[in-house]
Amino acid sequence: MKRFGLKKVFSTAVILTMLLGANPTAGSASADDRIFNDMPNTGNVFADMATQINYFKDDGDIQNESTVRALKMHLSAVNQFQKTGQTDKVIQHMQGFKQLLDNQRNNGVLSEVAFDVLNTYAQYVTGKIEGPFDADIAMEHVKRLSVDIGPREAGTQGEREGAEYIESVLKSYGYETAIEEAPRSNRIEPKLKIISNNNNKGIPVRAASGSPQTSADGITRNVYQAGVGQANEFTEDANDNIALIQNGVIPVSEKVKNAMAAGAKGVIIYDNIERYTLPSISLSGVSSTIPVAGITKKDGEALLAEISAGNLEAQLSIQTLTNQKTINVIATKKPQGIENPEIYYIGAHLDSVPYGPGASDNASGSSTLLELARIFKDYDGDKELRFAAFGGEELGFVGSRYHIGNLTQDEVDRTKVQFQIDMVGTAWVPGSQLYINTVDGKSNLVVESTHQAADDLAISKNLLPLHMLSRSDHVPFHEKGVPSALFIWMEPGTPPGAAYIEPYYHSLEDTIEHVSPARIQLTGDVVFKAISNLIGYEKNSEKNEETSLLLAS
Ligand code: BES
Ligand code: ZN
Repeated sequence: MKRFGLKKVFSTAVILTMLLGANPTAGSASADDRIFNDMPNTGNVFADMATQINYFKDDGDIQNESTVRALKMHLSAVNQFQKTGQTDKVIQHMQGFKQLLDNQRNNGVLSEVAFDVLNTYAQYVTGKIEGPFDADIAMEHVKRLSVDIGPREAGTQGEREGAEYIESVLKSYGYETAIEEAPRSNRIEPKLKIISNNNNKGIPVRAASGSPQTSADGITRNVYQAGVGQANEFTEDANDNIALIQNGVIPVSEKVKNAMAAGAKGVIIYDNIERYTLPSISLSGVSSTIPVAGITKKDGEALLAEISAGNLEAQLSIQTLTNQKTINVIATKKPQGIENPEIYYIGAHLDSVPYGPGASDNASGSSTLLELARIFKDYDGDKELRFAAFGGEELGFVGSRYHIGNLTQDEVDRTKVQFQIDMVGTAWVPGSQLYINTVDGKSNLVVESTHQAADDLAISKNLLPLHMLSRSDHVPFHEKGVPSALFIWMEPGTPPGAAYIEPYYHSLEDTIEHVSPARIQLTGDVVFKAISNLIGYEKNSEKNEETSLLLAS
């Protein structure tokens, strides 16, 4: 079995450039640049470490350039030895690296957080942290869910496909699975398709709040470019067509009134600001008789280019769908011949927000759940394991509430813990601590067992701070009195109740490029260990062939 990244090896030149910071942007990024700086999407642990070091320098967690240089010198040496297969030298230099971390921390030039994070990476490289969890397999699931399937909004075909994929994987591991369908609120479904270029391409679009509905087929019309939508920007060519209007300058209500006066049959407003989300457009101040929807600046400009190149025909529909259902997938492993066993839940939400591919939120967690299911598949102890992939989390825990609401009181009473795995793979560099969040901010069995696991794995507990945060499917479990916690990578120093997280959150840019296999690996290792301790599982089947990351390359 391979461990993250080291099988995808970089060219020496590239990694040395990275490690030594010859990249002109490395180490000199402004605070704003840094917010959007990810770890390199290479899966290479040394590259991740170098990026983390640059970040800690910028952030003041490493106080002097000479420490940065010395740490990177070690890394570049290790990388060289690793490439030439000199494992003993790798270990030796990583020991030197750890020694240096220790000294610099004692000298006060390296913060505790920086020490814990970098030391944990070093523990991996030297093979100190072991376990069957394989982040490469988890990343394959992230790809299937976020790239191949894509957006998984509750009630949509995407959510159904995500659920079917998850169920098929769980079945293949021998679990008994069940699908639950929980009712959800009516769903507005806007669609925009380009007809004229023959590829019937769909464009992400959001209905304006207060927009009228269309028939299922919507309206299919030529698209007329109407500038920012002032009255004098409409000619008679706008009549009976769809007006494409830039956001800004005048209120949306004016744009729409002018479009209606010119006889337009629909309005598409494209953003005037480049951002990661679809513009939210409100029709307050006008009662529109024609459908109105918003798209991104980038997509709007692409449409303008098509209009300049010739005719552009589009189909716009906005429908309110009733009787909507969101889907849970529940996989169970029941102990043989044990009446009323204790129940242990591992949960993750499988739905995404509309249009966003939901790679971090929450293909990362669903995929970690699947990989945990794989490595627990041979468990045959006396506890019952339940892997629950919930739908409708983004609507306010609809799937998980439905699920727990349908348990008997006896099942609730037998439930010992719920681990909620949500956004556990951010590549956003500042998110360097794996927070364990409880609803009330108090410790419980999930927190304690995870801290014990960290101890067992020689990972500093400070890397896994206890925090107070709701915002996910651990909430309904908490409300029923089940010890539960949410696992999520956040920035050191996040205050109670707050969440300092990646800028891609809930956006069109929540893509697999922003997911770090290294962080999924650590999450999987520590959660596997925690649950193994709780249920008394000794992993003895399929022992890892490799004892260290290094041997996997
Ligand atoms: N993964 C997030 C929860 C989250 C966000 C945790 C930020 C920590 C930091 C989850 O999918 C989500 O977005 N939850 C909603 C819940 C709401 C609909 C009740 C949220 O927080 O807005
Ligand atoms: Zn979310």
